Amino acid sequence: MDPQISYILAIESSCDDTACAILKDDQVLSNVVAGQEIHIQYGGVVPELASRAHQSHIVPVVDQALKKAGITKKDLTAIAFTRGPGLMGSLLVGASFAKSLALALDIPLIDVHHMHGHILAHFINEGQEVPQFPFLGVTISGGHTQIIKVTDYHKMEVIGTTQDDAIGEAFDKSGKMLGLGYPAGPQIDQLSKKGDPKKFPFPIPKAPNLNYSFSGFKTAVLYFIQREVKKNPDFVKENLHDICASIQHTLIKILFQKIEKAVKETGINTVAMGGGVSANSGIRLRLTSYNQKGWNTFVPPFAYTTDNAAMIGISGYFKYLDGYTAGMEITASPRISM
Ligand code: KG4
Ligand code: ZN
Repeated sequence: MDPQISYILAIESSCDDTACAILKDDQVLSNVVAGQEIHIQYGGVVPELASRAHQSHIVPVVDQALKKAGITKKDLTAIAFTRGPGLMGSLLVGASFAKSLALALDIPLIDVHHMHGHILAHFINEGQEVPQFPFLGVTISGGHTQIIKVTDYHKMEVIGTTQDDAIGEAFDKSGKMLGLGYPAGPQIDQLSKKGDPKKFPFPIPKAPNLNYSFSGFKTAVLYFIQREVKKNPDFVKENLHDICASIQHTLIKILFQKIEKAVKETGINTVAMGGGVSANSGIRLRLTSYNQKGWNTFVPPFAYTTDNAAMIGISGYFKYLDGYTAGMEITASPRISM
């Protein structure tokens, strides 16, 4: 192995996906994700079950990632892992595994902030164009809705965030009210394609500055459904496509209102999106439409938008290059700031 080249093994276990990736410098050699179907029956992630599933998945997932990359543990240069934010029991599994492996192999350990991962996923080298600093990172997932000013690989400042629910929760909880399974986001996306987005107007919640609020929206959807179902018990079935399209249309409107404000206020018109909700086809379409207005917009490939370890690997790589490694005293941290 060439000593000039780094091989980083990365682990992500902040929520309900156990993931391991191997990177050769900034390129992905393997990216393995084991999901946890156990949560579907509960309509959301159950922390205790997630942590137990991580424990049974982690060894096979790491083995598979090494095998797919065509390297062995001895070839590794460093181990990166998600330190937080996330569920404590889930984070602990990845953190303990990463620490033990780094200790056993006597190689550096690198802690990574999960949200840095979502943002730096844009820099996984697949020969594509990458965002230039400074840019606005917009992370939208089941746990987050943030607008982040990104100055370099390590310097990120949250300039807008949700005050209550994340946008992914707004998708999932609205879908649950319509009888859709978990996660409902992708189903709302699909069903919207045949619906009228303007059929049922929902209110746009008010939140100060660049912040978001989705809890009022959720309540508005609930009251609307209850009112209509009282008049017609088949209302949801008969109008499912239009309801989904209207929900999606409103969520997109809420999302972009603040992104537009952030671009205007910061004067930064490079916008890079990440997180599971950026898989939404309506959001992608709307984002790329701003290119005609002179913005530079970016969405990473699908495999790197939802939770994955490749994004932790690329963040670890940039930290490694700049000498930011962690000591063995490092611990998982469910609530860490950027
Ligand atoms: O980033 P992610 O995989 O996990 C975290 O929450 O960290 O995001 C999952 C979220 C879920 O709320 C899911 O419903 C949403 O992403 N999602 C979507 C779509 N695909 C995934 N929401 C709307 N449209 C989609 N196509
Ligand atoms: Zn995430």
